[in-house]
Amino acid sequence: MSERGIWEGVDDYFAQAFGISDPVLERALARSREAGLPGIQVSPGQGRLLWLLARAIGARTVLEIGTLGGYSAIWLGRALPPVGRLLTLEANPRHAEVARASLADAGLSAIAEVRLGDAADSLRTLGAQGATPFDLIFIDANKDGYDTYLELSLRLAHPGTLVLADNVVRGGKILDPASPDPDVQGVRRFTDLLGGLPNVAATTVQTVGQKGYDGLVVALVTGSTD
Ligand code: SAH
Ligand code: DHB
Ligand code: MG
Repeated sequence: MSERGIWEGVDDYFAQAFGISDPVLERALARSREAGLPGIQVSPGQGRLLWLLARAIGARTVLEIGTLGGYSAIWLGRALPPVGRLLTLEANPRHAEVARASLADAGLSAIAEVRLGDAADSLRTLGAQGATPFDLIFIDANKDGYDTYLELSLRLAHPGTLVLADNVVRGGKILDPASPDPDVQGVRRFTDLLGGLPNVAATTVQTVGQKGYDGLVVALVTGSTD
C-alpha cells in the first residue's frame, strides 16, 4: 500500500472506531459535492478536533475565515451552547448558499451566520464596529491572505482566545523561502508574524491523512494583542 493509502486507511479506521461522522455531516458533504464545490474541507477527524478544542476551552463565540460548504462550520457550531455564536466569512456566494443550507439542516441557523464578502473587508468592518471578541478563531481561507487575517483577527481576540490555522505545511512546501507559490509565501508571512507576537504562544501540529501531509497551527492568546 502507498504511504498515502495507509494515511487514508488509518483516518478511516479511527473515524469508524470513534463514530466520528453522522447523517447530517454526510448530507453536508453530499450537498457540497452535488453543487460542484471543491472537496477541500477538513477531514472528519480534523472536524472532531476543531469541535474538541472548542469544547475544551468552553468557547461561546467562534469566528471562521473561509466557509466553503459549511462542513467545518457545522463541527464548530455544534461545540457551542444554545446562546453561542458562530460567524463564518466567505467570499464566494455559491459556497455561502450551500453552507447556509447545510447549517440549517444541522439545526444551527439560530447561532450561525455566513457573512458574504472578502474576509479582510468583513474583519475590518467588525474591528471598526468594536465587535465582541471571539473565543476561537479558525483561519482557513485563501492562504496568501493568512498574514492579513491574523493581524485583523487578533483585534477581535482576547487573552484566552485560541487561534487555529489550517494548511500551514502543504506537504513541506513551507520550508522553501524562495517558493514562487503565493500560498507558501502567505503562510510564511503568517508564521513570521505569529512568531514575533509577544502575547501569543503557538505550535504546529503536523498531520497526515485523507488530506495528505499538512499541518494545523494551534495558538493561544496569553495577553493583550493591542
Ligand atoms: N473551512 C472549510 C474549508 C474552507 S476552503 C471547511 O473545512 O469546511 C477555503 C474557502 O475560503 C473557500 O470557500 C473560498 O471561497 C474562501 N475564500 C477564498 N478567498 C476568500 C476571501 N478573500 N475572503 C473570504 N473567503 C475566501
Ligand atoms: C486545500 C486544502 C485546504 O484545507 C484548504 O483550506 C484549501 C485548499 C487543497 O488541498 O488544495
Ligand atoms: Mg483548509
